[in-house]
Amino acid sequence: IITPVILSGGSGSRLWPLSRSSYPKQFLPLAGQLTMIQETAKRVSGERFAAPFIICNEEHRFIVAEQLRSTSVEPADIILEPVARNTAPAVCLAALRILEETPDGGLMLVMPSDHVITAPERFLEAVGKAASAAAAGALVTFGITPSQPETGYGYIKAGTPLGVHDGVHAVERFVEKPDQATAESYLTNGSYLWNSGIFLLSAAAYLTELERFNPAIVDACRRALAASRRDLTFLRVGAEAFAASPSDSIDYAVMEKTGHAAVVPVDMGWSDVGAWSALWDIAEKDGQGNATKGDVVLSDARNVYARSEDGLLVAVVGVENVVVVATDDAVLVAERDRAQEVKQVVERLKADR
Ligand code: GDD
Ligand code: MG
Repeated sequence: IITPVILSGGSGSRLWPLSRSSYPKQFLPLAGQLTMIQETAKRVSGERFAAPFIICNEEHRFIVAEQLRSTSVEPADIILEPVARNTAPAVCLAALRILEETPDGGLMLVMPSDHVITAPERFLEAVGKAASAAAAGALVTFGITPSQPETGYGYIKAGTPLGVHDGVHAVERFVEKPDQATAESYLTNGSYLWNSGIFLLSAAAYLTELERFNPAIVDACRRALAASRRDLTFLRVGAEAFAASPSDSIDYAVMEKTGHAAVVPVDMGWSDVGAWSALWDIAEKDGQGNATKGDVVLSDARNVYARSEDGLLVAVVGVENVVVVATDDAVLVAERDRAQEVKQVVERLKADR
């Protein structure tokens, strides 16, 4: 049995003005009817899966609880972090809790709460392939064929197939967020995959490796759990102990360093929806390449992503390759391939107001 572990700590600032720090992108129905965290939980609600652990900031506890309830997902714990310490400690908290519940150590499927997977059956098939390797101690990642030299991702060089495990390869190198030139060389090289940020690993194997490379994180998380307080499904970890944890991602803290990484290449329509342009990429488009949502009128527009919220009427005339997003208190207009730069606007707004 596999325990889903859903990470919900990001702020998704590049999807402003819809995504706000008080209501980040995983809680929005960005690509479908359900919100992204609901889609994530639903995707792994079959028989092979135990109830999911969610790890989120305390501030978001009611949104998380409500969104799961309304899709009939019964979480195990909703683990509440008083401060963000990145993904290595978040996964560590879940691993420690899972070992408390199942001392023989179960497998955990670690998933960001804010990714789109358009072919979930292929994802589940890949998880199936990864299971025996993970049970044998491998830290399995799911690799995506890269399409551009993205510097915000981890890159994986797949090595030799791991004998008995069909479709599972050893990882020759794992490089988190390379610079532009390196990312370009990986793309030309052709044998690198993107790290999807989804991992299948045994709780025990993860803790062993984290203990080896960053024992201070494990120590802080143990103390934080020892000082935790339960309130129904909410598990509020000890604030002082958790704040003492070093802040690091699972990628830097463990995956780049471990000798036990493995990868299952999978083509599952994956997107981490890092910016509005990614939503245009995956959206259904009209004959002119336009994708719209809400009350939008287009005239002579091409390759546009236009979205209206809160019942506003949005009209777009005679432009190409732009993103328009209107909400009741903010409007974004951006060139489509510069949609990443929205992040700078958000930072300025934070500083100015
Ligand atoms: N609970 C919790 N606490 N969750 C967190 C925290 C935290 O402190 N920090 C981040 N998360 C969640 C985010 O909400 C997201 O769902 C997931 O963990 C990954 O964090 P990101 O901050 O989005 O990571 P990234 O995009 O820089 O890089 C990761 O994902 C890429 C693919 O999207 C890495 O795994 C890369 O190697 C990978 O390519
Ligand atoms: Mg991300």
